[in-house]
Amino acid sequence: MHTPVATDDLTQTYRCAIARFCTGVTVITTNTPDGPVGMTASAVTSLSLDPLQLIVCIGNTLATKSAITETGRFAVNVLSRDQEHLARRFASRGVNKFAGLELLADHDVPVLANTVAHFVCETAEAIPGGDHTIMIGDVIACAYDPDISPLLYYGSAFGSLCDEATHARLGFEMQIAAMA
Ligand SMILES: Cc1cc2nc3c(=O)[nH]c(=O)nc-3n(C[C@H](O)[C@H](O)[C@H](O)COP(=O)(O)O)c2cc1C
Repeated sequence: MHTPVATDDLTQTYRCAIARFCTGVTVITTNTPDGPVGMTASAVTSLSLDPLQLIVCIGNTLATKSAITETGRFAVNVLSRDQEHLARRFASRGVNKFAGLELLADHDVPVLANTVAHFVCETAEAIPGGDHTIMIGDVIACAYDPDISPLLYYGSAFGSLCDEATHARLGFEMQIAAMA
């Protein structure tokens, strides 16, 4: 049996443990009078089907949090495996995050092109959650592309699902290892 790692430093152990909760990666966007803003977020989850709602947890001090509080709307853009550069860019400060980006025109919030899915939301509630704010969004529009593979985040590193050929090869290698 494996023994789970736990140290006397609860915060550090929490950080390592929660980093092992594998997630997708999104970019949360909104529009301000000064232009579009956005940030990378993995703390996103579905909340309700009736009404259609999702949750995004955003650090209280972030520019995107202030902007969403002002505008009352945001988009959740689920990144593809080819968009790791956007995950990095939208997690940075002092860069023009939207430079050269293709956006879908049909919405009044910035919706990124070529993503796995997007959700356009109006803020239903903003609930304090420690050093973050839990933004509950009413989903007013969404769409997805079944042929685009997602970007993943695990152990503080980006990754992706393996393709069918790799999956088959890994399965074969495991069988060989089991026989050895
Ligand atoms: C993979 C990844 C996931 C992240 N998830 C979140 C998140 O869920 N909530 C959050 O507040 N910050 C998250 N961050 C950090 C923000 O993206 C980062 O603080 C960013 O600079 C915020 O942009 P802003 O200051 O322009 O609003 C994440 C960063 C990375 C790289």
